Amino acid sequence: MNNMGPYDEIRKKFNWNISENELGYKDGDDINIGWYCSDRICDQGKGEKVALIWQGFSGEVKKFTFNDSRIITNTMASFLQKTGVENGDRVCLFMDKIPELYFGFLGILKMGGIAQPLFSAFGGESLITRLEDAETKAIITQKKHLGKVRKIRDELPGLEYIIVVDYDGKKPLQEREIAFSMEDSEKIEKFDVFRSKAETPSVLHYTSGTTGQPKGAQHVHYSLISQYISSKYVLDLKDDDIYWCTADPGWVTGTSYGIIGPWSNGITQCVLDSGFKAENWYRFIEDQKITVWYSAPTAIRALMKEGKSEVEKFDLSSLRHLCSVGEPLNAEAVLWSTDTYGLTFHDTFWQTETGSMVITNYPGMEIKPGSMGKPFPGIEATVLDLKTHEPIEKRGVVGLIALKPGWPSMFRAYWNNEKTYNSKFINGWYVCGDRASIDEDGYYWFVGRDDDVINTGGHLVGPFEIESALLEHESVAESAVVGKPDPVNMEVVKAFIALKPGVEASDMLELEIMNFIRKKLSPLAMPQDVEFVDSLPKTRSGKIMRRMLRAKEWGEEIGDTSTLEDD
Ligand code: PRX
Repeated sequence: MNNMGPYDEIRKKFNWNISENELGYKDGDDINIGWYCSDRICDQGKGEKVALIWQGFSGEVKKFTFNDSRIITNTMASFLQKTGVENGDRVCLFMDKIPELYFGFLGILKMGGIAQPLFSAFGGESLITRLEDAETKAIITQKKHLGKVRKIRDELPGLEYIIVVDYDGKKPLQEREIAFSMEDSEKIEKFDVFRSKAETPSVLHYTSGTTGQPKGAQHVHYSLISQYISSKYVLDLKDDDIYWCTADPGWVTGTSYGIIGPWSNGITQCVLDSGFKAENWYRFIEDQKITVWYSAPTAIRALMKEGKSEVEKFDLSSLRHLCSVGEPLNAEAVLWSTDTYGLTFHDTFWQTETGSMVITNYPGMEIKPGSMGKPFPGIEATVLDLKTHEPIEKRGVVGLIALKPGWPSMFRAYWNNEKTYNSKFINGWYVCGDRASIDEDGYYWFVGRDDDVINTGGHLVGPFEIESALLEHESVAESAVVGKPDPVNMEVVKAFIALKPGVEASDMLELEIMNFIRKKLSPLAMPQDVEFVDSLPKTRSGKIMRRMLRAKEWGEEIGDTSTLEDD
């Protein structure tokens, strides 16, 4: 029997009080995610239960119980406080998927800080943009990433503390740098957890849009109400499950469902701190006897490429429920998983801004391969007409996915950017920026994004951020960045570049530009293809028409070109 029961029944009777009651929360109470994910589970008598099974890239395994988690998170929270971090301060987590990342996240929340997770693969420019915008006070990092932080800290006077979690004493620490050791610090048994309320800010996740630099989607502690119950219903987490979310906490999936969801449910979860390799992933499932697996279409397509023969080498019989998020999960991948694992990947749709799943396939519900499923109970969704922005009554017509504001984990602001935040709401709906249609049975079918944002392997990359960085290269006069189709990553970044007068295009220059972006921004933002052009198509007002370049890459109709410069 699954946790949620029949979809239609629960949808009729659901309200968020169900989640509040299960969590023992009443309106006006204190609510601190850090406490809910550690202390509360211990109070329920599960202190000796394993909270985290962590495996490093060289195969070493470490296990931590909920009681370990409670004490480590207390210790980290107390350390931050003593260091000078105050409630409301932004504290960046800039680490690989090591245990300190997970416990650090909860530690920050326990002392009232705002956790700002960033991918450790980010280069200097990506870091500066986000740390400057958030006016981040402290960054928690590892030796191996310290070099990147040192290069930019002079530009960030507000970054007062650089905390290194694996300092080995070999080279002296520099100005503003402080060592913290999870193992060697004096263990803090009792910590006065910050008495956050429902609307107290908790997490700041940066996400990309079409225009401008990335925006910080700001969440609050009350988001727990959505994250807890959706983990229970959609991931179907039960007490004896061993759960694996493959996402990095630099991405919202890795925090909402890679920390908060499972741990607030008191579930044992696994983390594999190494890159993708089918063999390693399957071995991890076999060794740890993983039962519930939450992954992403790019990974699933990469596993498909490895074929069934790879699967047959392992015993994956522990698996019982599979979910996916981040990009369209093609029908072929859904059918392949049913055929190969004997289990069907359940597609889930949501965003950094929504904080939790909003349209998904549920355990026990009939799956239509290629569909994202139906709205989560408690979420009112529709599609809006592309022009009038009124809900479309007729089924099968493509419109903009829109949600009625008010679910607990909805973002409360874009940090310092009220204008863009307000622009997301039209006619009383929150507009996601994606297009879909709804069929006769109420299933949602994803069509595509409604903007120029590139979704590469589930990660959103803003063309503006890459174009701005490209302009810093001495040979580039102007550029346009679009997504180009890719069989595994769905899209990869392609840059059209007009060079400065006198600069010759060459393979060497192409490589140099790719590397320039990889270092400055991140491997994800690195163009996989560079096309040198004499000029870029522009509107009469001088705006580069990415739409035309994109359409060409996808073999689509170019559409209205009446505003083009040279028509
Ligand atoms: O375009 C949609 C796509 O990813 C966007 C949200 O990205 P992000 O904020 O990084 O959060 C991703 C993890 C929750 C959406 O606006 N997307 C997400 N899930 C799906 C999807 N596209 C199609 N199908 C999905 N299941």
